[in-house]
Amino acid sequence: MRIPFTSWVFLIPICSIFLSFCIFVEAGQCLDSQKSLLVQLKNDLTFSPAATSKKIAQWDQTSDCCFWSGVNCSDGYVTGLDLTNESISGDLSSLFNFQNLQNLSLAYNNFSGSQIPSEFEKLTNLRYLNLTNAGFAGQIPIEISRLTRLVSLDLSADVFLGATPLKLEDPNLNMLVQNLSELIELQLDGVNISARGNEWCRALSSSLQNLRVLSLSNCYLSGPIDSNLLKLQYLSIIRLDNNKLSTPVPDFFANFRQLTSLRLSFSGLTGTFPGKIFQVQTLEILDLSNNVLLHGRLPDFPQNGSLRTLFLSNTNFSGTLSDSISNLIKLSRIDLSNCNFSGSLPHSMANLTKLLFLDMSSNSFNGPIPSFSMAKNLTQINLSHNDLIGQITSTSWEELQYLVSLDLRYNSLNGSIPASLFSLPLLQKLQLSNNQFSGQLNQVFNFSSHLLDTLDLSSNNLDGPIPTPVFELQGLKLLSLSSNNFNGSLQLNVIQRLRNLSSLDLSYNSLLVEYNGNDGINSSLSSFPNITTLKLASSKLKKFPDFLKNQSKL
Ligand SMILES: *[C@@H]1O[C@H](CO)[C@@H](O)[C@H](O)[C@H]1NC(C)=O
Ligand SMILES: *[C@@H]1O[C@H](CO)[C@@H](O)[C@H](O)[C@H]1NC(C)=O
Ligand SMILES: *[C@@H]1O[C@H](CO)[C@@H](O)[C@H](O)[C@H]1NC(C)=O
Ligand SMILES: *[C@@H]1O[C@H](CO)[C@@H](O)[C@H](O)[C@H]1NC(C)=O
Ligand SMILES: *[C@@H]1O[C@H](CO)[C@@H](O)[C@H](O)[C@H]1NC(C)=O
Ligand SMILES: *[C@@H]1O[C@H](CO)[C@@H](O)[C@H](O)[C@H]1NC(C)=O
Ligand SMILES: *[C@@H]1O[C@H](CO)[C@@H](O)[C@H](O)[C@H]1NC(C)=O
Ligand SMILES: *[C@@H]1O[C@H](CO)[C@@H](O)[C@H](O)[C@H]1NC(C)=O
Ligand SMILES: *[C@@H]1O[C@H](CO)[C@@H](O)[C@H](O)[C@H]1NC(C)=O
Ligand SMILES: *[C@@H]1O[C@H](CO)[C@@H](O)[C@H](O)[C@H]1NC(C)=O
Ligand SMILES: *[C@@H]1O[C@H](CO)[C@@H](O)[C@H](O)[C@H]1NC(C)=O
Ligand SMILES: *[C@@H]1O[C@H](CO)[C@@H](O)[C@H](O)[C@H]1NC(C)=O
Repeated sequence: MRIPFTSWVFLIPICSIFLSFCIFVEAGQCLDSQKSLLVQLKNDLTFSPAATSKKIAQWDQTSDCCFWSGVNCSDGYVTGLDLTNESISGDLSSLFNFQNLQNLSLAYNNFSGSQIPSEFEKLTNLRYLNLTNAGFAGQIPIEISRLTRLVSLDLSADVFLGATPLKLEDPNLNMLVQNLSELIELQLDGVNISARGNEWCRALSSSLQNLRVLSLSNCYLSGPIDSNLLKLQYLSIIRLDNNKLSTPVPDFFANFRQLTSLRLSFSGLTGTFPGKIFQVQTLEILDLSNNVLLHGRLPDFPQNGSLRTLFLSNTNFSGTLSDSISNLIKLSRIDLSNCNFSGSLPHSMANLTKLLFLDMSSNSFNGPIPSFSMAKNLTQINLSHNDLIGQITSTSWEELQYLVSLDLRYNSLNGSIPASLFSLPLLQKLQLSNNQFSGQLNQVFNFSSHLLDTLDLSSNNLDGPIPTPVFELQGLKLLSLSSNNFNGSLQLNVIQRLRNLSSLDLSYNSLLVEYNGNDGINSSLSSFPNITTLKLASSKLKKFPDFLKNQSKL
């Protein structure tokens, strides 16, 4: 907010009368010695030529250094330095003069492959240390273990950024955390810990009684998971994805009183997943996906469940979904794809109003599809590759104004295709192939899904003519209407309007496909879209469409 000039005039005398008060509220008042240290730091650091520093570049030596971007002070001493994403590399030694530092972030910098400096031990007041994706590599030095006031330590690295990992061999995890008893948050994702068996559980549980956040994905950890871990009674967020645990999930996970997030995808889990864990009242996120040897069943869900995200895809979970799923009133993302579920989809799913993402594809679900009309913010529905039957009219599709993708392929659905599906404003993919849908599409009067890029209605029992407004869906890249009973004649020239079309399949219908080549001058030939796949088998084609001569990508 801009303070008007008149109020400044008013403020100054008040300020001088209550001078001591003014100094008291002032967070600044940088000490000269601290300012020179910051200037020295700025001069010593190297900035990658490729990128520019955003905060340090603004440090203006004529102003109070406590107000410099990324700097926090207390009593004139620098207590916080946030140098995240400044393209820094090179010499850090002047950093270690800031004896009062409590918060330090060097996250997302470019210390390409150099070791974490052992001088960190000089920063004895550090409480928050964040070196995530800073580019450090090699052994984590023992000196980090002497920062006994640390509350939060983040040394994680994104393996996808192609970084060489940090490792914890000597010192090992046990030595690193032994004296860090105040830690609340520990993130070592991507660090090669490779502790044998359950050593890592023992190391953590004997030292970190206050831990709430434990993030150890991609750490080359193995199992088993030791029950000692339960000593960490405040654990709320547990991430162990992408490890080689090769072990069952112990049921004591259900005893963490404050558990909100449990992520165990791609961890080689085996055995039966304890149903009790689904019933933990505080649990909001559960991700067990991509553990093909893990089996289990979904239990009855208690009332007032907190689950928002439930990912079980690519596991061997089986059994049915109970009506009590509607007790998960906060459920917004559910992915049960590629499991062994069966039985019908409970009607009560209609009460899951917070759903945003639903994928139950590639199971053996049968029976009709429940209504999703009340889940007004749904963006994706995938129920393909199941044994679902009946009509899809229980949902008032026009209610789902945010729907981006609807995939119901490979079921036994029948009845007509609701006209409202073709006028959803954000719809990009409509895939209904390999069902028994019937009726005529020319009942649809409003083709206004202008973002639609994929329309696949193949292998159904649709008949009647193909309504020409379909060719006004200008976003179409893939259009497949094959293996139906469409009849009447179709002027192939209509596809000229579909600038992005790359795949067109009209084969195996009762269509008379015509082509008007009379205006076949070169300019209009090149105005056809660049097609990679064109299928017109069994289309009573009379004249070879000469625009194909110009199709180099076909
Ligand atoms: C990091 O540094 C290397 C060379 O040391 C340079 O090639 C690369 O562009 C830098 N990356 C960024 C994001 O500045
Ligand atoms: C350190 O960071 C924490 C969390 O962001 C913040 O609450 C605290 O005020 C910061 N302390 C200083 C000295 O900047
Ligand atoms: C500086 O203080 C602000 C306000 O307390 C806090 O949000 C921020 O995280 C602190 N920055 C550092 C680097 O500690
Ligand atoms: C770092 O800064 C660049 C350029 O400003 C930005 O594109 C990028 O998203 C930032 N990365 C992070 C992790 O903040
Ligand atoms: C470390 O910094 C990154 C980038 O600002 C942030 O995303 C991450 O949450 C921080 N880690 C901790 C433990 O606060
Ligand atoms: C932890 O502290 C104890 C007592 O100060 C000390 O004997 C031990 O060597 C320390 N451990 C590590 C790994 O530094
Ligand atoms: C992780 O560390 C172990 C033991 O030091 C080593 O054998 C293994 O090759 C390392 N893995 C990677 C990917 O660096
Ligand atoms: C999946 O579970 C079924 C029993 O529900 C079992 O027959 C099958 O072998 C399991 N598959 C795997 C890969 O474990
Ligand atoms: C669910 O929450 C409501 C309101 O917070 C509460 O009145 C009710 O007792 C709770 N029910 C159960 C079974 O915990
Ligand atoms: C949805 O919840 C209401 C209120 O709890 C209940 O009366 C109704 O039967 C539920 N609908 C379905 C389809 O289960
Ligand atoms: C849909 O999202 C909007 C905006 O985030 C929110 O206000 C609304 O309550 C949501 N609707 C439902 C049914 O959750
Ligand atoms: C087809 O490709 C040619 C050559 O790459 C290009 O000039 C033409 O504009 C493209 N046509 C369309 C409709 O994108």
